[in-house]
Amino acid sequence: MTLSEFQQLVTTLATEGERLIDAAPNATALEEARTSLLGRKSGRLPELFKQLPSLAAGELREGGSLINAVKARLERGLEDRRQQLEQTTIAKASIDLTMPARERWRGAKHPVTQVIEEIEDIFRGLGFTIALGPEAETEWYNFTALNFPPDHPALDAHDTLYLGDSVMLRTHTSPVQIRTMQANKPPIRILSPGNCYRRDFFDASHAPMFAQIEGLAVDDGITFVDLKATLTHFANRLFGKTKTRFRPSFFPFTEPSAEMDVECQLCHGSGCAGCKGTGWMEILGSGMVHPTVLEAAGIESERYSGWAFGMGPARIAMLRYDIPDIRLLYDSDVRFLDQLAR
Ligand code: PHE
Repeated sequence: MTLSEFQQLVTTLATEGERLIDAAPNATALEEARTSLLGRKSGRLPELFKQLPSLAAGELREGGSLINAVKARLERGLEDRRQQLEQTTIAKASIDLTMPARERWRGAKHPVTQVIEEIEDIFRGLGFTIALGPEAETEWYNFTALNFPPDHPALDAHDTLYLGDSVMLRTHTSPVQIRTMQANKPPIRILSPGNCYRRDFFDASHAPMFAQIEGLAVDDGITFVDLKATLTHFANRLFGKTKTRFRPSFFPFTEPSAEMDVECQLCHGSGCAGCKGTGWMEILGSGMVHPTVLEAAGIESERYSGWAFGMGPARIAMLRYDIPDIRLLYDSDVRFLDQLAR
């Protein structure tokens, strides 16, 4: 036999042998593979060893080292496969199919965050952009520029959390109106969500920290019709086709001012405990931006007009999901939040 013929046989044995070893499904099959490959009696490798002397004398050395290398390779393959099979057996044995399944933990957005994002989407569709302002505000932005008289009760330390002289935690998101008008020329259309703070007791309907969403539109020739049309459209988008009504109200920074009510989402107008029998639920305060406020923010009130609104997304979440106590929205109790998870 020539060396290259011998080499051919050795290589074939190596490939076929490895394939056999890797395919062995269990220890018994692996043992059979070992016998057929290395078995002293009629194993394929010992059979090949017997061919070795038929090589030319000068090629014996090389032939020998070739076949010894394959022997080592097959032995290693057998050992690897043995360990692999052992591992699988251990792993299989450790699965207890009678154990109760562990449920996967899935996070979700807080109901108030869901409401804020939904409202943002509706106004984004109307060309509004999102503007943010600081939660620590100066008295000027929070009150003065918004036309609060110096003796307004909201300025009282009993109602407002002061951080120092004329600096406070903002009591509403309306100061963002001023900041926006100072920084931008009309046309202006912004929506501003954010946290506000008031010195309120934490009870079923008040929280000392709460979210608000402010809206502001300023342009040439903006009228109360724009305010009503936009806010009515908004209510229909948020609640589905619903009745709305505007009631005269008062805010120092808007004139005229109006509260918007939507038909009670729980009883649809017939009167229930949720709407205290009125059939209506108040969802926001609004009005035409007071000319004094436009001027304070550097906008010509002779040329431009605007409207603004402010609403509490927690209140809207409460109306929508019939949540009786605002504290439920702050408790972070997963048993409650899970019911509103989306
Ligand atoms: N800032 C008012 C509040 O906190 C709401 C409001 C905003 C009213 C804008 C009119 C216009 O109650």
